[in-house]
Amino acid sequence: MTNLKCLHAASEVAGFAKTGGLADVVGSLPLALQSRGIECAVVMPLYRACRAAKITPTEHRFRVPIGGRLVEGRLWRGKLPGSEVPVYLIEQADYFERDDDATDRGIYQFTDAKGQKADYADNCARFGFFSRGILEVMRLVNYWPDVLHLHDWQTALAGAYLREIYQHYAKPDLRGNYGRIRTFFTIHNLAYQGIFWHLDLPMLGFPWRLFTLDKLEFYGKLNCMKAGLVYADRLTTVSPTYAREIQTTLLGCGLHGVLMQRAERLHGIVNGIDEHVWNPAVDLLIEAKFDATTLDKGKSLCKAALQRAFKLAQNPRTPLLGMVSRLAVQKGLDLIEKVVPDALRQGAQFVVLGDGDKVHRDMLLKLQKDFPSQVGLSLGQSEAISHQIEAGADIFLMPSRYEPCGLNQLYSLKYGTIPVVHATGGLADTVVDATPQNVAMKRATGFAFMPFTPTAFADALNRCLTMFRDEPARWRQLQQTGMLQDYSWQRSAAEYERLYRLALNEFV
Ligand code: ADP
Ligand code: GLC
Repeated sequence: MTNLKCLHAASEVAGFAKTGGLADVVGSLPLALQSRGIECAVVMPLYRACRAAKITPTEHRFRVPIGGRLVEGRLWRGKLPGSEVPVYLIEQADYFERDDDATDRGIYQFTDAKGQKADYADNCARFGFFSRGILEVMRLVNYWPDVLHLHDWQTALAGAYLREIYQHYAKPDLRGNYGRIRTFFTIHNLAYQGIFWHLDLPMLGFPWRLFTLDKLEFYGKLNCMKAGLVYADRLTTVSPTYAREIQTTLLGCGLHGVLMQRAERLHGIVNGIDEHVWNPAVDLLIEAKFDATTLDKGKSLCKAALQRAFKLAQNPRTPLLGMVSRLAVQKGLDLIEKVVPDALRQGAQFVVLGDGDKVHRDMLLKLQKDFPSQVGLSLGQSEAISHQIEAGADIFLMPSRYEPCGLNQLYSLKYGTIPVVHATGGLADTVVDATPQNVAMKRATGFAFMPFTPTAFADALNRCLTMFRDEPARWRQLQQTGMLQDYSWQRSAAEYERLYRLALNEFV
């Protein structure tokens, strides 16, 4: 088979900057592809957070027109942690180096005077510039991929720049190189689309003829996600169930029509997990290492450490619920508010690590105030605490309203922590509900509920608490079945490779 070259582009990459699962995916998938013989590189913006990683400047600079002026970018270089996979970082200090923990400024959003998170007003220019920069990187470092793999709306305009501008108007000797590239666009979350007013179209250098229903226009506005959907040669999303759900009015976020039209080109591939990072047998961030055979001892040490860290009573038989989450409507925090108090009244404990919207932070603070000796709360980002909750909790709550894939339930399975999930998207594809039949067949790995109502969630959580209390042998069976599931990246990478080859063969 011929060698393949693939350039991944994303707005966050683990080891450099992260707000959610996207970073984990883009930090891992290229490594798995590389180990299958596909040469990979990654491109991302250079935020302030990236300066903590090992990166070095290069001499490469480029300028592109944004809003009537030329904006300069400079390339830096790093590597994906523990590998030789190059990461190109686009430096543009005004656009990208404004993140700052001290003033609560993130990579997409800042915190206003009332404590609310708001998007930066110039996100269109920032990520339009980045999208165009992706194509400049190829030219500057002479890296011509067979596949340009774009992730989420922040990179989506690269597809439009490629097909509408670069393959026709780049220097004549480069047009062929651009024209040969096949593009993949992965939807990690359809709800975040990058919608901006119409005048951002000329600001980014696109002609008005692209402002049509079949291209970039969306209810009178510019929609970056839509550009990703219409220009890519292939579309993927991060689970088969989500691939179906986004073709419905309920979860299609206004783009279900476009997705239905491209259904034959849309594939769902479940994410993997990085087993060097998320694996209780090697995890250095947790109290005690364990695997499926040393589960009882290891997990009870991790549980006691978690209870200690959050100043909760250290009783091994008390069910300890855990949650690690962006605090956003997507994550079903309204169900947490309605259902968890009852579990606490039954004596459970609850530990949460979360970062995000003020309404959800306030809700969790109130829960802690109402149950001070049973609720442990950490607001903010912490890699270490996220591992400690996965390792120490008995039960992991993930009642997401929708969930394209979800990584935390996969981490939970690996750590013998039983997930309770809403059966949507990737949660439906990865957690097998403990029905009597699934338990008898030793297939069950967690508890899944539908529909998205407090009653259904409460019912699943009660089934879970009952098994924890009354059926320790069955509980252990669930834990071990979950721990033995294969969610390594190799499975997913094989599927991506198959699609890359399919796409390339179609056009030669
Ligand atoms: P999403 O990408 O929608 O946020 P995922 O389940 O795919 O959801 O991925 C979330 C990732 O972000 C996981 O790696 C999780 O551990 C991490 N994470 C979420 N919130 C925090 C936090 N407050 N601190 C540290 N890591 C977090
Ligand atoms: C998004 C989704 C999440 C998914 C992640 C990585 O942030 O919300 O479900 O796991 O991307 O694909």
